[in-house]
Parts: sequence; C-alpha cells; structure tokens
Amino acid sequence: MGKLDGKVALVTGAGRGIGRAVAGLLADEGAAVVINDLGAGLGGDGQDESIALQAARAIDPSGERVVANTGSVSDYEAAGAMVQQAIDEFGRLDIVVNIAGILRDRMIYNMTEAEFDAVTAVHLTGTFNTCRHASVVMRRQGHGRIINFSSVSAWGSPGQPNYGAAKYGILGFTATLANSLGRSGVTANAILPFATTRMIDSTPRGRAIAEETGKPPSELAAGTEGDPANVAPMVAYLATDDAAGVNGHFFGVRGNTIALYSHWELAGVLRAERRWEPAEIADLFPETFGQTTTIPAPVQVPGEERPLKGAAALQADPASWEEFAPGVDLWLRQAYYGAKQ
Ligand SMILES: NC(=O)c1ccc[n+]([C@@H]2O[C@H](COP(=O)([O-])OP(=O)(O)OC[C@H]3O[C@@H](n4cnc5c(N)ncnc54)[C@H](O)[C@@H]3O)[C@@H](O)[C@H]2O)c1
Repeated sequence: MGKLDGKVALVTGAGRGIGRAVAGLLADEGAAVVINDLGAGLGGDGQDESIALQAARAIDPSGERVVANTGSVSDYEAAGAMVQQAIDEFGRLDIVVNIAGILRDRMIYNMTEAEFDAVTAVHLTGTFNTCRHASVVMRRQGHGRIINFSSVSAWGSPGQPNYGAAKYGILGFTATLANSLGRSGVTANAILPFATTRMIDSTPRGRAIAEETGKPPSELAAGTEGDPANVAPMVAYLATDDAAGVNGHFFGVRGNTIALYSHWELAGVLRAERRWEPAEIADLFPETFGQTTTIPAPVQVPGEERPLKGAAALQADPASWEEFAPGVDLWLRQAYYGAKQ
C-alpha cells in the first residue's frame, strides 16, 4: 500500500534533476504520473522529447501508470493539454508539482529584456498556466494538492534578478492559491529546495568542482546531501491526504533537513503619535529594526573564513538544537529567541 494509491499527479520539469526524483517517488507511493519535460537546455534553449520519454520509461517500463508529456509550461495551451492528458489517461488530477525551470543569470545592469522575460515565462507564468487549468479540475473534485518550486534566490541572489523575481512571485502566487482554493479542499505549498543538479553545475563553485574532480557535481550527487532524491519525500508528504491541513506554507528542503519559513509575520513595529521625520527614522533605525535585520546573529566558527549566517549558523551551534525523536533534531524560532520575540 502506497501513500498515494489511486492518486494522479502531473510533475513538470520531471525529465531530469529534482523533478525526476519527485516523479519517481510519487509513482513508488502508488500515484499515476504525467511526466512533463520540454527537454530544454539550462537556459531554456532547444527541445528534446527523449528526456521526458526516457524518464517515464525508466520509472514504469510498462507505460501503464507513468506517461510522458513534452510540452512547454510557458505555453498556456500546452499547459492545458498536460492537465487534459492526466484526465484522459487516468480519469482525474489530484497533484500538480511545478518544478520546470531554467536559468539566465546576469547582473541587473547587464540583463536584457529577453533574459528577464524568458525566465519569468517558465517559472512564474508556467506555474500560473498549469495551476490555472488544474484549479478548475481540482475545485470540481473537491480535492487537490499544488506544490510549487521556489528558491532561496528569492531572498536576493545578486546575479539573478529575473530568477529571484520569479521565485518570489511564486511564493505570493502560492499563498493566493492557498487562500482561494483551501475552502475547496485544495492545498498549495511551496518548496525552496537544494540539490546538486545541472543548475548547480553552472555556478562558479560547480565549475570549480568540475575542474578539480573532472566531473560535474551533479554526477557525484548520488548519496550525498545534494542528492535530488532528498527533496522528494517532503513533496510526497504534501501530496498525501495526511497533509490536508498544511496549506500556504513555504518549506526549505536540503539533504535530510526540512525547514519551515515564517512569512507575512511582523518582525517589529515603531509607532509614533505624529508623522515621522526622515532624520528621526535614521536616528532610531539602527537600534530598533536594525537589530532584527541581523537575526540570527552571524556566528564565527573556527576554520571558517567568514562568519556564518542563517541556517548555516544554526547548524554550527549545537546548543540551539533539541533532540526531538531518535535521530531527529528540532530548532524552533520561538524556543530559540523566547516566546515574545
Ligand atoms: N537545484 C537546486 O539546488 C535548486 C535550488 C533552488 C530552486 N531550484 C528549483 O528547482 C526546480 C528544479 O531544478 P533542477 O535543479 O532539478 O533543474 P534541472 O535543470 O535539472 O531540471 C529542470 C527541468 O525543467 C525542464 N524545463 C525547462 N523549461 C521547461 C519548460 N518550458 N517546460 C517544461 N519543462 C521545462 C528542463 O528540460 C529540465 O529537465 C527549478 O524550478 C529550480 O529553479 C533548484
């Protein structure tokens, strides 16, 4: 008995990388799966139908429960055809996982309009396209699970103004779906993943590893923290009936670590009885909001060149973790900073 027996899933960008791993686990858990992949180059160029077809055949050689779709998510009609294919082949659509993605990294002052548009078209418009079509089916069914892929690049990766904007847009879009479709039994959540795929091969660090080892990092990922298979269990969980009450959340997944992001929560408030003077804000800012913008405080760890920030700092501070279950540690902001912070 799988956790997803009887369910039908559409996974975009599932021919390679994280999408491939997610599609495989959903199928292992009993779902019938439409594997969508355009077979595009990393920058969105070209098209290769064999990528989706081979992934589908590898997961289900019989072709009965896993089928391929080679359309582009950035094409509204093609996205509609993916949803229709799920219904034609398997009779319903319970799960949509939007993973398809491309990169065209450049600093803002060098980026062309075409580079901005190409990236937002696949990530943000592509996510809208599949969700728009699927939402009609899911509302009618009174059941659905939407899982959209964002990225920590949304927090401000310097060379990715197109990608960061699209990935932040996906968070707002996901929150909107959660609030509008929740009453129809449809949940929407976002994943901010890390996995050593060809996307990582393309980074300066990835290229350096390739030079050192003679192999791109993606070829060395199996069994390491960066194994794309590590991202799949959280996606599969969100797709199950067990996660019916989990709606509108953003989860970071990296290796065996799952993080819950808090969002749209106030971090601090300054209230005055009169209109503010800019100079007054300048005076007060460093001692007030300026204190919270550096939380968690960077931690200098022996052997590390620079102080560690964020999740990396937490990892390095054993005192901030509680052993919650055998082999499972927990960090909660409330416990760490005190209930009132
Ligand atoms: N790898 C990471 O560490 C990381 C980090 C943050 C976010 N992400 C996000 O996770 C997702 C998967 O990334 P990955 O690293 O597995 O990338 P990948 O390049 O290995 O896979 C992406 C797949 O999407 C397909 N694709 C591209 N354009 C498409 C289109 N228009 N229609 C259909 N398919 C299309 C590609 O052919 C490719 O197979 C992406 O949305 C990415 O932005 C990845």
